[in-house]
Amino acid sequence: MLTTPRPRARPARATYTFHDHAPQESSFEAAVVQGLSAPRKSIPFRFLYDAAGSALFEKICEQPEYYPTRTEMRILEREAPSIARLAGPRAQLVELGSGAGQKINLLLDALTDPAAYISVEISRAALLEAAARLADERPELDIHAVWADYSTPFALPLRADAGRVVGFFPGSSIGNFEPAQARNFLSLWARRLGPDADMIVGVDLIKPVEVLERAYDDAAGVTAAFSLNLLRRANRELHADFDLAGFRHEARYQAATGAVEIHLVSQCRQTVHVAGHDFAFAEGERLHIENSHKYDIEGFADLARQAGFQWHTAWTDPKRWFSVHYLRTPGAL
Ligand code: TRP
Repeated sequence: MLTTPRPRARPARATYTFHDHAPQESSFEAAVVQGLSAPRKSIPFRFLYDAAGSALFEKICEQPEYYPTRTEMRILEREAPSIARLAGPRAQLVELGSGAGQKINLLLDALTDPAAYISVEISRAALLEAAARLADERPELDIHAVWADYSTPFALPLRADAGRVVGFFPGSSIGNFEPAQARNFLSLWARRLGPDADMIVGVDLIKPVEVLERAYDDAAGVTAAFSLNLLRRANRELHADFDLAGFRHEARYQAATGAVEIHLVSQCRQTVHVAGHDFAFAEGERLHIENSHKYDIEGFADLARQAGFQWHTAWTDPKRWFSVHYLRTPGAL
């Protein structure tokens, strides 16, 4: 009989479960070609978050002008006991988009004996890094890393033997959808979380235009680099030839739609080649990157109700710059 020597006892490795719902990465080419062929050029914002983009986004969150992250963090800190009370013991936290981990740690610290943490994230690098870090910090926690596009259908690895399911969608990412899409997205998640489940949503509020525009065009140029990274990604992955110096980042608040609109503006007449296609840009022509919609509290509460949630409450900061909404799905669907 062959025996292999037993390896020396190694320190236990922190683990998590990986769920591969491979988001359609190949669609980047189709999306760019389609978006640049339209009379008003655009590229869907989900492509901003490759590994470099996710890292730049973490840096945006640290900029002094970008108030949403720290304002939301303070609200969550203050309301952590209320959240723990509402969620109850052995909650299963489902985070939509895994961030730098501070917000989730705050919730995990506050909750009574949390049973599981499920992270749904489109950037594989950001997902695995966050899951590994959390597994190190909390070896007792049941951690699930779900690689998926959170607006497409897939099954959540929920547990029948644990407490309430609590969705967590911070950072006003909901504002990156158009309001009708946001409603569809919320109703998809109301069904996916199941009956008598909670959903915590961070929602940025309408405020003076200077504050809004500065938040999306910081002095250090991090947000500009984040936008331009989309072109860098196209150059790398699609062998495109965008001249990064030929485009300028622009953030403008449109009061009529309640959105900060983010564009890259062509600085000259130029032609860009992407995957065998030629795209002509006029001087001053805009390439749409993203909208960030701002709400008032009642407006968002209505949207959540239309999506099938019961609206419980919204917490805000003293300046009323940001809000955290607590929603619940009906008990018997
Ligand atoms: N959810 C963030 C927001 O709307 C995303 C974001 C912040 C963003 N800064 C950006 C997206 C700049 C594109 C460009 O606040």
